Amino acid sequence: MSELDTQSDRSPRDEWLIDSLTRQVAVMEAMAGVARTGPPGSAGDEVAHCLAWRGVQRQAGRFGRNLEARLRGRLAPRWEQELAGHHRVLAAYREEADEALTGADPKVVVEAEGRLGLRVAVIGKGGAGKSMISGTLSRLLARRGHRVLAADLDTNPGLAFSLGVSPTAGGLPPDAVEAHAGAAYGWRLRTGLSPAQAVDRLALTAPDGARFLALGKIDDADKTAPKQTLVALLEILLGFGDPAWDVVGDLEAGPTTPFERYHAFADRVMVVVGPAWRSAMTARRLLPLVADVPTLVVANRFRDEPDHPGLAPAVRIPDDAAVARAERLGLAPLDECPDSPAIAAVRELADLLTGGGNGHDHHHSDHDHSDHDQREVPV
Ligand SMILES: Nc1ncnc2c1ncn2[C@@H]1O[C@H](COP(=O)(O)OP(=O)(O)OP(=O)(O)O)[C@@H](O)[C@H]1O
Ligand SMILES: [Mg+2]
Repeated sequence: MSELDTQSDRSPRDEWLIDSLTRQVAVMEAMAGVARTGPPGSAGDEVAHCLAWRGVQRQAGRFGRNLEARLRGRLAPRWEQELAGHHRVLAAYREEADEALTGADPKVVVEAEGRLGLRVAVIGKGGAGKSMISGTLSRLLARRGHRVLAADLDTNPGLAFSLGVSPTAGGLPPDAVEAHAGAAYGWRLRTGLSPAQAVDRLALTAPDGARFLALGKIDDADKTAPKQTLVALLEILLGFGDPAWDVVGDLEAGPTTPFERYHAFADRVMVVVGPAWRSAMTARRLLPLVADVPTLVVANRFRDEPDHPGLAPAVRIPDDAAVARAERLGLAPLDECPDSPAIAAVRELADLLTGGGNGHDHHHSDHDHSDHDQREVPV
């Protein structure tokens, strides 16, 4: 029995944290279970098998990294012990996955690596183009045969428009959450609903087959739905470890969301920057907040302005009148102006993310990024 089990003075926050760790172990056990037997319907498919183990490895790394970033130095001593135990459990899953992958044909492992889904959080100043890029990118990835979860973490819906779904659709329903005094805003994902089940059952199917999840919509009668569903949506994204899926998260503008680690689900953070000086200033303020994850700068709405010093973009998306027109019509740019220059540049971004750019990420899952420099995706 751990020390905390014997404490009668646990606060609701303690209870919530313990439950969260227990839920993480349940996610790990479910993923490891799939990997041990091989994913359903994949008999003889060694690549799928390796991919499942690669997912276990990555998910354990993600949970561990996020706990470190959130809690390091902020815990009472009794918690340190509890957390150390949890890290050992995560390490055991990682080791099991390491072993399975070490024993596999290296060619198969490389192929599995190529199938490993992207996990991207999109941040930047208000109006920089986060939603346009997130929605268009999600659909382009879906068109390439990827399974994609596009998540709107902004209380002001924007992603729905660029995906081409109704702005009132895709929100987490009230029965996906439950009250818990220890959770931020007092609500969390309902007990018994795993992140994978939540995606499977609740994500709306958007055009091109991309799936869409959002916060509860503000037009709910009590106007508290976004707050009630925030923790649940973050828990879904963090714990949805299916390695065959891409996850793209559109974060609310400004520093609060990265400060609160809404990007914890991501393996890479995309910082969208416009030509304005203040857009660059925001990007520079945001980058240190996401320094635990590799970053990439995307320039949007540039005409002939020079790049911002220190913010060399991986991709430049031009200012494009057709995109602005799509917005005025309330249509997804990908439907309204599929051949416009801005959409062509988002295609380039999809190429970059799916092509050469993903290979280096897997090294970082097990390591601590104590050097807080910016890591751009090698082109
Ligand atoms: N490359 C572009 N060319 C022209 N207009 C663009 C371009 N990218 C985005 N826009 C327009 O700029 C506006 C802001 O874009 P978008 O909503 O994607 O930004 P955002 O960063 O998500 O904003 P918010 O912070 O409000 O969520 C929209 O009207 C969109 O149509
Ligand atoms: Mg937006």
